[in-house]
This record gives sequence, structure tokens and C-alpha cells, in this order.
Amino acid sequence: MGRHMSSDEHVDVDDRIAALAQRAKQVLEDNDRGSYTVPTAKLYPFQWNWDSAFVALGWAQFDRERAWLEVETLLSAQWPSGMVPHIVFWAEQDTYFPGPDVWRADNGPHPSSGISQPPVLASVITQLALGDSGESETDRAKADAAFDSLNRWHQWWHTARDPKDLGVMAISHPWESGRDNLPDWDIPAAAIDASGVGHYERRDTKLVDASMRPHKHDYDRYLALVKFGADQGWDDAAIAAGNEFWVVDPGVTAILLRAERDLLRLGQWLGRDVDELASVSGRIERMEGGYDRMWNAAAGSYTSIDLRSGEYATAGTSASFLAAYAGITERTSELVDELASWSEHCPFLVPSFDPRDSRFEPNRYWRGPVWAMVNYMISTGLADVGEGEWADRIRVSTRDLVLESGFPESFSPTTAESVGGLHFAWTAAIWLAWLS
Ligand code: GLC
Repeated sequence: MGRHMSSDEHVDVDDRIAALAQRAKQVLEDNDRGSYTVPTAKLYPFQWNWDSAFVALGWAQFDRERAWLEVETLLSAQWPSGMVPHIVFWAEQDTYFPGPDVWRADNGPHPSSGISQPPVLASVITQLALGDSGESETDRAKADAAFDSLNRWHQWWHTARDPKDLGVMAISHPWESGRDNLPDWDIPAAAIDASGVGHYERRDTKLVDASMRPHKHDYDRYLALVKFGADQGWDDAAIAAGNEFWVVDPGVTAILLRAERDLLRLGQWLGRDVDELASVSGRIERMEGGYDRMWNAAAGSYTSIDLRSGEYATAGTSASFLAAYAGITERTSELVDELASWSEHCPFLVPSFDPRDSRFEPNRYWRGPVWAMVNYMISTGLADVGEGEWADRIRVSTRDLVLESGFPESFSPTTAESVGGLHFAWTAAIWLAWLS
């Protein structure tokens, strides 16, 4: 670092970038199961919600039809309530636990989990329809067909996960945040009674080094929450009223707010009905009004809020920096200062958790590692609000991580080593869509 590259080294990097595009395409093809893409074989052998959304952006770089098929498959698993599940179990597989027999979630048209995941899909579909190579008649027809499902899913978030009208979204399970073992969830999850979980066998720690994965006590609580939801028949009102884990997530909130703005733009382009669009605008206003609840002056950041105890998390996470992506600009300068301070503690941006905090672990999943698709969103948001220099630093950092370690699930922010599963679809997709 800090050394200028010679022209030979430049050539070398250019060659490697070209070769990586080919390898990234291969990762998507290897994980392709026909109508959906698995995040990586074995460790995650089904369709995951936000993985598929990002993966569609990757497919779109060389096969637009396949990109659309990815998102159509996901939406075909939507529940009558509007919820789009976090996992769809399209095939039987024994390398993942917990499977459909544990979830007992038969509320939708296909076997699935009973919770959702960060709703980035509307932003992806808007990008497919209105982005650089979009705007064909096919794109218009496909986006039009997806619009109502997206609108119902967004409404579901407001009804099911914000029944008290706070303008910020709660999650009912750490997995619903997509950031499974973030330190933020430790305290709210500690209250969960996991005594009824019984014996079970994890499959993840047979595939990936246990030091990179959540602990056993985390898994016990994950399963206790699944059991509670299943016992309620995944009824949204019962979960909002009685789920022991009920925590406002700045990640889901920012991603939904951005998705609502994109949905509005998409609806306008499609010439949708004024009343329909008014309901989207109403939800945007509601969230704009609520966003600042997550501002935590002591932490100098947006943080999660345990709605059962009223306690705020004590440190920021990578999702704190998604405010700009959500179109919230009041705190941009404070957040950029915060990012500058983080960057003094690790050479690669953006770690998933505050690197100055004692709970930071550079190689344990969401307690430190860098995730390429989170960087893509943070950087996009910062570029939108005129923080081009930081947007660029994050993009270059992500590129360097891939140049160093290829396409793993995530990366160590201190050494650039790969963390978690390998041959990972969303990392490859982000390379194709954003970095190559
Ligand atoms: C892990 C991640 C989650 C992701 C899933 C599949 O559970 O935390 O965000 O969707 O793996 O890649």
C-alpha cells in the first residue's frame, strides 16, 4: 500500500481482472440449478432471497433472460400474506440444517422458511428494467409482472414488522437481517429460552471451519425462534406480540427504504395507477419520518434497537453506513467521520462490525468480515450523495479483496483472506455487475 504500481504490474492487474470475469461467470454457472442459483453448493443448497437478488445482477451481465428467471422463481414462492421467504426449498438436500421439516412453514405455494430477508429485490428489478442495458419491451413486461408482488411484499414489511407504526423495521430472527451472528443480536437473543430445542446435528460446521461460524449457543437460539414461529403457524400478529426476539434493524430498514423509492420510480415508468403509487409514497414518508429513531448519539451511528427492552446496541455496524443508500442524508458527515476512523483500524473496508469494539472478530462471519454485496450498497449510496472519494475507496477495497482471494463468501478486513464458504455466487455476481 502507498506504493505506485509500475506499468508491468498494471498490465498484470488488467489481465487478472479479465480472467476473473471469466471465473466469476463460471461460479454462477456452477451454482446454477436451472431456475435459481444456490449461494454455494453443499453449505447453502437452496434458493436464498437476497442472494438471488444480487445474483440476478450478475447474470444480467451475460444472460438477461436468466437474470429475470432468477427473480421470477423467487417471487413465485411468495406467501399469500405478501411475505417472500428467506429460503425456498426447491429440492431435497441433506447438507443443510434446519430443513423444511423443522420450519413447518407450509403457508406458501412451495416449502420454505417462515421468515423473510432484506428486501433488495425491487432495487434489483428496477436496475434490470431501467439500468444501462434495460428498457426493452421484454424488460417492461417482466417488470410489470413483478410490480404487484413487490408492492405486496413491501406492504407486508410495514404491516407485519412495524405494526406500531414506528417507521423502522423489526426483525423476528437474526437470520431475517441476513447478518446472522452480528454482535447486536447477542443481548436480545440472550433472553431466549432454548431449553426446548432438544438434540440436533449441525451440518455447517462439517463444511466450514467452526471458528468462522456462529457458536452453538447462537444456533440453539436460532432454533428456539424457529420453533416458536412454527408453533404459531407463522402468524404475523402472534409473532409481533410474543416473539422473544424483536429488534429494529438498520440494515433491513435502509434496504427497504431504498427499495420503496426504486419501486416508486419503477411504477411511474410503468405508468401505474395513481392510487397504487400513492401507497408507495405514503410508506416512504412513514420511513423517512422514522429513520432518525435509529440514530444513537453515544455510538455516533445508526444502531439497532431491541424493542422488547428499549435498549440500543452500543456500536455501529456496516449497515449504519447504508443511510445514504436509503436516501437519508442528515448524518452523512458524521458517518463519513466514523468510516474514516474505522479505516484506521483495518486496511480493507467495510468490516461488518466496528473494528474498535472488543467484540470485533475479523474471521467470524458477521462479527468482522467484509461482504462484497454490502460494500456495493454502501458505495452506491455514498456516490449518490456526493461522497465519491469514499465510494471509490470502498470499491477499490472490494476489488483488491477479490484480486487477493477470489470469490469466497466474505473476506477478512485485516488480512484479505477468504472467510466462510468458497465459490460463492453473490461475490461473483458483484464482481461482474460492479467491479470488473
Ligand atoms: C448466511 C448469511 C445470509 C445469506 C445466507 C446464504 O446465512 O448470513 O445473509 O443469505 O448465508 O448465503
